Amino acid sequence: MRKIDIIAGARPNFMKIAPIIHALEAARRNGSDLAYRLIHTGQHYDKNMSGSFFEQLGIPDPHFNLEVGSGTQAEQTAGIMTGYEKLLLAEKSRLCLVVGDVTSTMACSITAQKLHVPVAHVEGGIRSGDWSMPEEINRMVTDAITNWFFTTSEVANAYLRKTGVSEDRIFFVGNTMIDTLLRQMPNFRAPTIWQQAGLQAQKYLVVTLHRPNNVDGEQHLKTMLETILTHSNGMPVVFPVHPRTAKNLAGLGLAAPNLHLTEPLGYLEFNYLVKNAFAVVTDSGGITEETTVMGVPCLTARDNTERPETITVGTNELIGTDPGRYAPYFAKLMAGNWKKGQIPPLWDGKTAERIVAHLDKLI
Ligand code: UD1
Repeated sequence: MRKIDIIAGARPNFMKIAPIIHALEAARRNGSDLAYRLIHTGQHYDKNMSGSFFEQLGIPDPHFNLEVGSGTQAEQTAGIMTGYEKLLLAEKSRLCLVVGDVTSTMACSITAQKLHVPVAHVEGGIRSGDWSMPEEINRMVTDAITNWFFTTSEVANAYLRKTGVSEDRIFFVGNTMIDTLLRQMPNFRAPTIWQQAGLQAQKYLVVTLHRPNNVDGEQHLKTMLETILTHSNGMPVVFPVHPRTAKNLAGLGLAAPNLHLTEPLGYLEFNYLVKNAFAVVTDSGGITEETTVMGVPCLTARDNTERPETITVGTNELIGTDPGRYAPYFAKLMAGNWKKGQIPPLWDGKTAERIVAHLDKLI
């Protein structure tokens, strides 16, 4: 039996691993000897940041949970590395498969490679160029020691080639996050806030903000939200609040009749909200991909992105982190002049099958 470790640690990982696990299980039913251990690092641990995703996306219970919990970047990295090293020393797998750019991704790839376990990186090769974000460091370190890259875009392929990665290590497969989106779309369901706030399709905005540079400064967070509310034309603004943001928001005393705060939502509820929204304002990377596929206008509160195809092909635009510059973007949005966008190549729901077909040959 050829065993692969699949690593997941934080919320944006779960929708990326689900289809890979399902494709591996399908291959198994067809006689393949590929098997996996699912390792949850415990970086996210709240039910609404982790458990609900496992339930809704049909991800089996992890074989191991490293229970690293919260901490500084170094504490989390060290805890995950120590925990995963113990597992590998007890039983080595044939491959460590990591997804995305969270701290768990980087920590497990370092641990595996140092024990001579090859690494495959799903969503490899993307870069924002912004070293102030921990995710960019995670991407750079992970890719520096990745054997095989499963990429989401031609931009990633070109970047990897430019940095000297040979063609036989790059596999342009598409986007596993979109596999999950397309598979789960028929199951999307209204969150309770839908009734509570009296929401109507295409008549509200969704906001998500959780990046340290947007939410850790209380005054900045306040100005950002007030600016969004000012430009909302009185439409309901629904804001599912990440735990990091919640801590800072609590002290702001921010209230407006059209501002609706909720806990972080389940996958099916959140994407119901996005699919039916007039527009989304976010600092997430993954959401810019989902809005692109659902054709929903997306205003990204960042100065850069590692996912340029959401702008060049999709519905996304960078509005930056300075709320003083938001007026023209909202004017365009409210006038109904936002671009329509298209779906990037290979974001077709079949990415995980392609990955498993490659894995079968690689290990
Ligand atoms: C992490 C990822 C980020 C991703 C985000 C999605 C890194 C560097 N960042 O950021 O790329 O977009 O997840 O959510 O890996 N907390 C809870 N409950 C939880 C998890 C976290 O209360 O289940 C709180 C803790 O106070 C913690 C804080 O949220 O300190 C931040 O969590 P952390 O895992 O450090 O990073 P995120 O900001 O969630």
